[in-house]
Parts: sequence; C-alpha cells; structure tokens
Amino acid sequence: MSSLLGRASSMLQISLSAVGTIIVLGGQVRAETLAQRGSYLVNTIMTCGNCHTPKGPNGDIADKAFSGGLSWDEAAFKVTAANITPDNDTGIGKWSDTDIKKLLVSGKRPNGVPVAAIMPTGFYNILTPRDLDAISAYLHTVKPVANKVPDPSYKIDAAPQIFPGAEKPLPKSALRDKVKRGFYLATIGHCMECHTPMVKGQRDFVNDLGKGGFEFVGPWGKSASSNITSSKTKGIGAWTDAEIKRAITKGIGRNGNKLKPPMGYGYYAGMTNTDVNALVAWLRTVPAKQ
Ligand code: HEC
Ligand code: HEC
Repeated sequence: MSSLLGRASSMLQISLSAVGTIIVLGGQVRAETLAQRGSYLVNTIMTCGNCHTPKGPNGDIADKAFSGGLSWDEAAFKVTAANITPDNDTGIGKWSDTDIKKLLVSGKRPNGVPVAAIMPTGFYNILTPRDLDAISAYLHTVKPVANKVPDPSYKIDAAPQIFPGAEKPLPKSALRDKVKRGFYLATIGHCMECHTPMVKGQRDFVNDLGKGGFEFVGPWGKSASSNITSSKTKGIGAWTDAEIKRAITKGIGRNGNKLKPPMGYGYYAGMTNTDVNALVAWLRTVPAKQ
C-alpha cells in the first residue's frame, strides 16, 4: 500500500510538470495528454459525432467518423453538419488551432461566415482554455476522410443564443466543486438545448429550463425531450441517482423502457463516474417546473 502510494505521488510530480494534469482511474494515476482530454470531451459529453458522423443502420459509421453528418432544413437555414476531419480539401485540415477555437466559441469561420445555431456554440464560451486547446488538439489527430458536404444556405441571420452562465470560461478551480463541475458538463453537453421548449424561435432558459417537450422527428419516428427538472411529479425529482445515471448512460427509462434518439446515450456511456455523478448533482439543483 505504502509503496503504491509512494509510486503514485512520484508519478504525480512528473506528470504535473510534464502535462499539467493527472487523472485517477481505478486507483492508478496516469498522465492525460491534451489530445486524450480532447478525445474524452468530443466522444462523450460533447457528442460531436452525434451530429458530425454519418449514420448507418447500426448508428455511427466508425471509419467515416466526423466526416459530415446530419442535415437540417429550417426556415432560417439549410445546413449539414460539416466534415471536421483534417482532410485538406473537404474538411478542416487547413484550419489553425486559433481558427478552430474561434469557431467553437464565436460560431465564426475563418472566412467570417457564422455557422447556423444548430452547432451549439452558444454553450461553448464556458470551456476552459485548456479544454478548448484539448478539443482542437484532438481534432488534428482524427483520421482525414474526404467527403464534401453540401454548401450551407442561410435565409435569416440568427446569432447563437448564449446559455446563461456560459458567457465566459469557467475558472479551472471550479471543476473541483461537484455541482459546478456538473453545470459545466451539462452546459458543454448542451443538455438544456434539447430539454427546454422552443417558443417563437427562442428558448426561455430562465423560466422553462429543463421543462422538456421539444420534439424530434427522425428515422426513430417522433420523440419529445423529457422534463428533467427536480419536479417530483413531472420531472426526475423522485428518481434515484442510479435511475438517472442509467437513463443518461444506457438510454433506459425509469420503468425499464428504452429511450429514443436523438439523445446520445452511447456517448455518455464513456463518461467517468466522477463526471456522471457531478452531472446528476447539478440536475438535482434545477428548479422544479411542471
Ligand atoms: C447538434 C449538432 C451538432 C453538435 C453536437 C456539434 N456540431 Fe459542429 N456543426 C453542426 C452543424 C449543423 C454545422 C454546420 C453549420 C453550418 O453550415 O452553418 C457545424 C459546424 C461545425 C464546424 C465548422 C466547420 C466548417 O467547415 O465550417 C466545426 C469546426 C464544428 N462544427 C465542430 C464541432 C465540434 C468540435 C463539436 C463538439 C465539440 C461539434 N461541432 C458539435 C452541428 C453540430
Ligand atoms: C439531442 C437532444 C438531447 C440532448 C443533447 C440531451 N437529451 Fe436527454 N433526452 C432527449 C430526448 C428526446 C429524451 C426522451 C427520449 C424518450 O422519451 O424516448 C431524453 C431523455 C432524457 C432523460 C430521461 C428522462 C425520462 O423522463 O425518461 C434524462 C434523465 C435526460 N434526457 C437527461 C439529459 C442530460 C443530463 C443531458 C446532457 C448530458 C441530455 N439529456 C442531453 C434529448 C436530448
């Protein structure tokens, strides 16, 4: 025991100076590189592939990951989730780190043209500088895939709605506070974008936060987001932590029912226990709404 601790603390010293971060998994301490952190964020809580990876009958087509995905045809725009692999001609191979990070927090491409608000940039200003670097670092390591997605067309200019609390980067120290960490994760996971109803093209993130009822139509038929406020009757206030965690990471409802897409249950399954627990701790604080 003592020798294990001794080894762990010396590794801790090394990794702190080498990369600045360590993660503890199953009692083992190991260094996490920027690209690994980016992979974790992109492939779990931030569900980038849920929109950006082409789908087949069995879900994401892994060898075409991030090469362009779903399309939206709405009043304000007609867009397809872009090819965000490092392919030079059809992807973002020519984008610098600065270009990628600017897109994530401002929605503006290097040529100045803003992306449609389907791309949840209004939730990303809260990203810590390190996590922004991590996402960009990871995107550079993804396999380039040549795939030209249709050009977007915009009918109305619409600035992204900034999620309350996501106006500026979270101080890194706040990630050690369970509820604040949960808020951070729920924000970059844009949970409340799907779980808040849209009224006249806007979401009232103050009065309607988490109320649900937003509808999605797709190959699965129709689904409507649930009320995930702490209401004991309409929301998840009476659920146990285990039931909430199972819903998020396995897509199983309280009564054992299978939950429908487009929520990315399979992505959330890869989250660490610490992160899922933090998410649940924050959900408990969401004021009850009927
Ligand atoms: C809810 C769906 C959705 C999610 C989740 C999402 N995106 Fe997007 N993203 C889009 C759409 C749609 C576009 C294209 C919008 C347009 O053309 O106006 C886009 C555009 C982009 C672009 C601009 C590329 C270009 O060539 O213009 C980048 C870069 C990008 N997304 C990266 C990401 C990353 C990284 C993540 C995860 C951290 C992510 N996206 C999550 C839907 C999404
Ligand atoms: C892309 C949209 C989308 C995103 C993003 C999303 N959800 Fe969901 N979620 C849904 C939909 C739709 C359902 C309902 C599925 C059904 O009833 O079959 C749902 C169901 C749930 C449920 C089950 C509730 C119940 O009453 O059965 C929970 C809990 C939940 N979501 C929490 C979250 C959390 C936490 C996040 C962020 C980490 C999140 N969701 C992100 C769309 C989304």
